[in-house]
Amino acid sequence: AEEGAALKERIKSLLAEQEAVLVAHYYTDGELQALAEETGGCVADSLEMARFGAESRAKTLVVCGVRFMGETAKILNPEKRVLMPDLKSTCSLDEGCPPSEFAAFCDAHPDHTVVVYTNTSAAVKARADWVVTSSIALPIVEHLAARGEKILWAPDKHLGRYVQEKTGAEMLLWDGACVVHEGFKAHALERLRALHPDAAVLVHPESPEGVIAQADVVGSTTQLIKAVVELPHPEFIVATDTGIFWKMRQLAPNKVLLPAPAAGEGATCESCAHCPWMAMNALHNLEQVLLIGDQEIQIEPEIGARARIPIQRMLDFAR
Ligand code: 13P
Ligand code: SF4
Repeated sequence: AEEGAALKERIKSLLAEQEAVLVAHYYTDGELQALAEETGGCVADSLEMARFGAESRAKTLVVCGVRFMGETAKILNPEKRVLMPDLKSTCSLDEGCPPSEFAAFCDAHPDHTVVVYTNTSAAVKARADWVVTSSIALPIVEHLAARGEKILWAPDKHLGRYVQEKTGAEMLLWDGACVVHEGFKAHALERLRALHPDAAVLVHPESPEGVIAQADVVGSTTQLIKAVVELPHPEFIVATDTGIFWKMRQLAPNKVLLPAPAAGEGATCESCAHCPWMAMNALHNLEQVLLIGDQEIQIEPEIGARARIPIQRMLDFAR
């Protein structure tokens, strides 16, 4: 513990010396989230991370999350240095949507408005008309559908199907999924709910249809945290990455939080739904990147400039 405390102090000094702030996602390690809060950084969902980075006056943004989050920060702030503890922190949605194949999909449907989830590479975003996060996908697609636009959606098929059902929009869906949320099992969730009839069920919309169908609240990480604080229920079953429990416990210490069963039928262990790429962020490699300055996000300026347009459109819409 003493060693950990010393490590944290060294990181704090490095952040101050380099005029750097931490921008952390709720799925990262609790220690990292706590450090981000203590040092004037932020802990947030994808949309708020993007906004915080764009409004920050820091010279360096250290994004603790996955690579597309670092890329979004760089696209919005090309003049800032954007570091990550580990640039190998990808996302199965990003991996499942290669830019060239995606471009062919767009070319085949030129009469569709291209809406891409933020969990994608800069090159895929550069091809989009709109970028959305899970917290703002519904109102943006509703807005487009009201204008009579047909939508080409990528890459998450579960979120896409959910948005389609809720908005009635005409949508063509890419076939991608999040490996973490895809692991939630509807039958096992039913059994857990039977054991906890007073629990409210909170579900991230990257989950399969049968899991979303059992939800009391479907939303982004920030929206699910808000539900734990605001709903009167004493107990919650949470179908998203277990990293989120750190913030939920901080804000609602008296609530009972149960992880939704993932992968192994009936499993309710805390480690069973955790993103392997979010887990690549740790104090030790955070210190390393501040010392060495490698693991810096670079975006080709032309791609960055194009990708910035649909991201900025989302931020302006959300305002
Ligand atoms: P949020 O935008 O809800 O934080 O989700 C990000 C993510 O990667 C979910 O798996
Ligand atoms: Fe991607 Fe899923 Fe990990 Fe989120 S939890 S970063 S969607 S793989």
